[in-house]
Amino acid sequence: MGYSSMLLWMFRPILAARKHFKAKDTDIILSTMPKSVTTWLKALTFSIANRSVFPIDQTPLLTSSPHMLVPFLELNVYWGQEIPDLETIPFPNPRIFSTNMHFKLLPDSIRESDCRIIYICRNPLDQFVSHFLFSVENKFGKDADLAAINEAFEMYCQGISSFGPFWDHILGYWNAHLENPGKVLFLKYEDLKEDITFQIKKIAEFMGFPFSLEEEEQGLIDQISGLCSFESLRNLAVNRTGDINGILKNASFYRKGQVGDWTHYLTPAMAECMKKLMDSKFEGSGLMFRT
Ligand code: A3P
Repeated sequence: MGYSSMLLWMFRPILAARKHFKAKDTDIILSTMPKSVTTWLKALTFSIANRSVFPIDQTPLLTSSPHMLVPFLELNVYWGQEIPDLETIPFPNPRIFSTNMHFKLLPDSIRESDCRIIYICRNPLDQFVSHFLFSVENKFGKDADLAAINEAFEMYCQGISSFGPFWDHILGYWNAHLENPGKVLFLKYEDLKEDITFQIKKIAEFMGFPFSLEEEEQGLIDQISGLCSFESLRNLAVNRTGDINGILKNASFYRKGQVGDWTHYLTPAMAECMKKLMDSKFEGSGLMFRT
């Protein structure tokens, strides 16, 4: 896909979402660059918000993909499909949506209402590799060829990727979080991997669904982290088969689920180049990634 057609591909859905989506004060919006563990965040936030509605062994996550329970604002439109009716979603208390839009491009109602935004990102080296392999697996664009990794990496470092330069995406939400931490929660995959219990508590508090002492003593946080773990979600029949929108294979959302897998795909020179780029782009922001 050329750069201009990529921009067109991105902008139609963004314009559609801006026009059709009206956020409510109670909404939770999950925002990510693709392949930054949106799936995990969807499962966690859905479980946190609905834990008093469904016992863990009857959660809809056992029979529905996290992407069905927490719909994307704009995904259908990327594929030329219909704009979804987002007013009537099956589990509306609260409504949880996800998006890949940059902070500045979000529908005005998201920024202007009291709804809350949870952003998650990951080390760009891992995000690039995950995205590249996802494209190969789902056979779209030039990336369908595994041998094209060098070219794809070069473009990524120039900021040419679907959803634009990774540094703009990440810094947009990082700065919004610094300005208003009650509005934007900023998470990193590596931190969730390191201490999921602490992060689940943090997410629940931010969402306005904090765990009571009694719930903690009942082991509810452990149950949620177990249910939403990579192995647990990946092994569910619903996530092993089928697809989203007839295009993205459900199973392709659960590849390896590890930090640092980039070392198996990128040369030391590529990693060095990326580290320099990250240093220059994130300099002075206070933002750091573990590589
Ligand atoms: P890898 O390709 O590195 O394995 P997204 O959900 O934004 O599409 O991102 C997909 C990435 O998140 C994939 O990374 C996938 O394996 C990982 N992932 C999905 N569910 C996960 C989970 N429950 N825990 C940890 N990682 C998960």
